[in-house]
Amino acid sequence: MVGVMDSADTYWHDRALLEWQLELGAVDAIGNDPVDRYALETAKPAPKPATDAGTPRPAQPAPEVDAVAIAKAAAASASDLEGLAAAMQGFEQCELKRGARNFVFCDGQPSARVMIVGEAPGREEDRAGKPFVGRAGQLLDRMLDAIDLGRAHDDPARAVYITNVLPWRPPSNRTPDAAEIGMMLPFLERHIALADPDLLVVMGNTPCQALLGRTGITRIRGNWATVLDKPCLPMFHPAYLLRNPIAKREAWADLLDLNARLREI
Ligand code: URA
Repeated sequence: MVGVMDSADTYWHDRALLEWQLELGAVDAIGNDPVDRYALETAKPAPKPATDAGTPRPAQPAPEVDAVAIAKAAAASASDLEGLAAAMQGFEQCELKRGARNFVFCDGQPSARVMIVGEAPGREEDRAGKPFVGRAGQLLDRMLDAIDLGRAHDDPARAVYITNVLPWRPPSNRTPDAAEIGMMLPFLERHIALADPDLLVVMGNTPCQALLGRTGITRIRGNWATVLDKPCLPMFHPAYLLRNPIAKREAWADLLDLNARLREI
């Protein structure tokens, strides 16, 4: 016979169920809706202030996090390149970090006279943890070698130092967006200040956007600008040259110009 439970029966039934769950180790009460615990980590809600009548106020939206301000403070706290790398690795506001395998900071010689700034790691760089090691990087090495520069050059005066605007690979190598560039810019500026090269070379639109505030590499390439008090040469990105070999003629002219400028200063 199927009996009908009265309220006392329901109580003991529910209690037995709860005790059985506790015995199984279910010690955390959870709700009906899924909880994004990654979001909770960064945005813990403030306790609800009570109204005059003592009743809690309705929940307020979490305050917006100012990623650029956090990046500026972290970058300013770094007094050397090692400290800067650590500060960047501790920066949690850039979502690209979560999808990347490796943090890609630099290659070459930090004391070099020439500092090259690219866009962001691609697949090979993400795997290796080093900038410009894929096909575009190999072309870059050949371009530098043509004017007797290199990341591992024996002569420190002919060495280069290489970094990117972003240290984490964007998914599917997509172009970094303005917010990502903006929040990583304080780190890049600090990187340039700490490495203190004589000349900067910015390759492609992303570093031009970050450091010159404009894009349109086909128009601005070859035109020297000043960035953080340093002469700065915009050039085609080697990946662009792989797709458009005809543009290597302009790239060669820019390399010769870079070499001449190095000999002048
Ligand atoms: N392209 C870049 O801009 N940087 C790299 O490190 C690799 C490819």
